[in-house]
Amino acid sequence: MKKIAITGSTGLIGSRIIGLLKNEFRFIEILQTDTDITNRKQTAAFIKKIEFDLLLHLAGFTDVDGAENNREITQKINVDGTKNVFDAVLEKHKQFIYISTDFVFDGQKPPYFEDSPPHPLSFYAQTKYEGEKIVNPLSNGKAMIVRLSYPYRKDFAPKRDFVRNIKTALEQKKPLQMVTDSLITPTFIDDIAHGLAHLMNNFSPEIFHLVGGDSMSPFEAGRLVAKIFNLDDSLIRPVTYRQYYENKAPRPQFSDIRSKKNHFQPMNGFQEGLKKML
Ligand SMILES: NC(=O)c1ccc[n+]([C@@H]2O[C@H](COP(=O)([O-])OP(=O)(O)OC[C@H]3O[C@@H](n4cnc5c(N)ncnc54)[C@H](OP(=O)(O)O)[C@@H]3O)[C@@H](O)[C@H]2O)c1
Repeated sequence: MKKIAITGSTGLIGSRIIGLLKNEFRFIEILQTDTDITNRKQTAAFIKKIEFDLLLHLAGFTDVDGAENNREITQKINVDGTKNVFDAVLEKHKQFIYISTDFVFDGQKPPYFEDSPPHPLSFYAQTKYEGEKIVNPLSNGKAMIVRLSYPYRKDFAPKRDFVRNIKTALEQKKPLQMVTDSLITPTFIDDIAHGLAHLMNNFSPEIFHLVGGDSMSPFEAGRLVAKIFNLDDSLIRPVTYRQYYENKAPRPQFSDIRSKKNHFQPMNGFQEGLKKML
């Protein structure tokens, strides 16, 4: 059984990866309580002593709006932390997968494939792109980059994804403003986990996109959530991209992200993914 060291295993995506794949791989969790990845010495020492074949690096500062006002810690975790973990893995000559985001693109010229040029807009996105450059599979041939987009899953108490934000607001009969002139690509986290299983078994130092089967506006996505969960869609009000993000970190406006390379894992469209959550 392949041994996978994993950072960020307590998070939204990492915890589901372990939940779904624990019979297929042996996971060695690198918990923040054992190792703060911003501490280079501690990280090197911990990674030196554990045994693994591949390290899956998910840990990150993931609050996109929060990152704008917490630049130092965002930089420390997403950039220095990634370098600390990657360098320790290089020392051991093991495989490395870096989890990145569709936010490395600016959303002006969709669709975005693995070879599209990144141009991050927000501080969070800049740090994720810095991480990509540190592990750069094209220059050093040691790492894989896997970009994800708008992940959602069934249950996860510690952190709400965007689907659960919409669902909870509608259940509480709260009105919601949702953007009409923008595109997102929602991705069912179970598909990400199964896609990663393939990539962990077939490692190669390249960039892959593991993203949902279709793209739509957040407004349409909100209405689909209401429809599938039988909630009142009249609470969802249209708003423009410009109005909605006026005082928030900028997001790529048209994040229609796709893959040229994913011939191994079928990715659910949003409606199918939501039905699987029922
Ligand atoms: N969620 C999204 O919308 C999204 C979209 C695209 C890509 N991604 C990428 O996917 C990855 C996972 O995202 P997620 O949403 O699952 O994350 P998350 O739920 O916010 O969890 C973050 C994880 O990182 C760990 N962590 C944070 N700071 C750390 C530190 N200093 N040392 C060690 N561990 C630390 C956390 O540990 P604690 O539990 O101890 O705090 C937690 O396990 C991230 O790299 C993110 O950039 C996320």
